[in-house]
Amino acid sequence: MRRIAHLSDVHILDGRAGRKARYRFATKLVSMGQRALDPRQRTRRLARALALAKANGADHFVISGDLTEVGEDAEFEQFAEVLHDAGLPEDSVTIVPGNHDAYTSADGWARAIRGPLARFAAASAAVAGKIVERGSVAFLPIDTTRFQSIAWSAGVFSKETTAAVERRLRDPAFRDKTMVLVLHHPPFHPVKALKWIDGLRGGADVLGLLARHPRLSLLHGHLHRIFNHIIATSSAVGAALGQAVLRPSGSRAGSPEGPTRLFGAPATCDGPDDAPRIRFYDVKDGALHAVDMPFQAA
Ligand SMILES: [Fe+2]
Repeated sequence: MRRIAHLSDVHILDGRAGRKARYRFATKLVSMGQRALDPRQRTRRLARALALAKANGADHFVISGDLTEVGEDAEFEQFAEVLHDAGLPEDSVTIVPGNHDAYTSADGWARAIRGPLARFAAASAAVAGKIVERGSVAFLPIDTTRFQSIAWSAGVFSKETTAAVERRLRDPAFRDKTMVLVLHHPPFHPVKALKWIDGLRGGADVLGLLARHPRLSLLHGHLHRIFNHIIATSSAVGAALGQAVLRPSGSRAGSPEGPTRLFGAPATCDGPDDAPRIRFYDVKDGALHAVDMPFQAA
């Protein structure tokens, strides 16, 4: 594998004819002030981003959650339709759900991955510890969602999930792989006051995994904009104990720093139509390297 395309926060709406005026109050509320309640615009932006990813040589596609606006079955069906129409090889798409995908029912994602998204199930989130090997890269897609009211947008990375991921990272079978954790929620929050309602419970454990395993990188969404972070550890002992200090990449001008290990993608549903919001990473020397814009138009 050479190039990974990273999309996130697609927020597909149910666009069936005549449905628009009848959106549930919850659907209107979560879109309000954030993005237009325009189902065609959302599907168009996803289709364009996928076409751009293909045109630019991506051989794996990661979509890091908030696939739908409120996790209704019809929204998942329409998300799946756009993916099918994009003509991607079925084992080249890694999808994880986000908090929006769990606003309607506790098992919306499970139903979708058995139903309309079944073609993409092989490389997508299921049980914690699932590993998806693609050449020199091994993806660990994790579902961080919980069924909650739209007043909340937090996620959870449980102790069991940490242990399952740790086992994979210690497994000699994957010793030579570039390991990539895929989560919707990042293990930090840029606004401290929002950490409890919008952050990731267990985020410190995720940082611990990153500190202990230098071959591990993380792709996330949720914040709707680009983030790049390095993991700094004060000492080898600190690293062994999983004591991590997270720092924005390039925040210490002039001083040496490690490679970017956490990558946040912008929201595919935001911004102008003609500038798809997507990131690319090239896999080189066992690590991910973000590729800068501009990209070749699709
Ligand atoms: Fe989102």
